[in-house]
Amino acid sequence: MSDQESIAELIALGKKARDQAYAPYSRFRVGAALRTASGRLYSGCNVENASYGLSICAERVAIFKAVSEGEREFEALAVVSETLASPCGACRQVLAEFGLDTMVIIADLDMGQQVSTVGDLLPAAFTPSSLPRPQAGNQEDAS
Ligand code: THU
Repeated sequence: MSDQESIAELIALGKKARDQAYAPYSRFRVGAALRTASGRLYSGCNVENASYGLSICAERVAIFKAVSEGEREFEALAVVSETLASPCGACRQVLAEFGLDTMVIIADLDMGQQVSTVGDLLPAAFTPSSLPRPQAGNQEDAS
């Protein structure tokens, strides 16, 4: 598969995930799709809540689904909305936890797209290597 084909596949999956968005408050539907280093694909949509602050973005749903399945290395993430919306700061930080080189594809519904990386979107990121050592109690899991 060419780079452009694999980007198109990720955008198509993000677009499909967007159909599941639960966004009755903002009415802004977002889909995301993540490709892991092992080649698996995970998707997500935004899920809002009547207690607005509990709403979660499509990107974090896709990332947390992948991590909960044992994935920690991400090649690319596509985020699809009608306005070429860029990942919010919280999602950038969550992405940065797993690597600054992950490709980020910002797409709209008409195949408009912008390609960058997590590092481009979050310069001078605070990452696991910013910490002096693994946190107490977590040493077995830190990797
Ligand atoms: N949203 C996302 O899901 N991803 C983004 O990149 C930007 C914002 C969601 C959060 C909320 O449900 C709605 O879009 C409006 O902010």
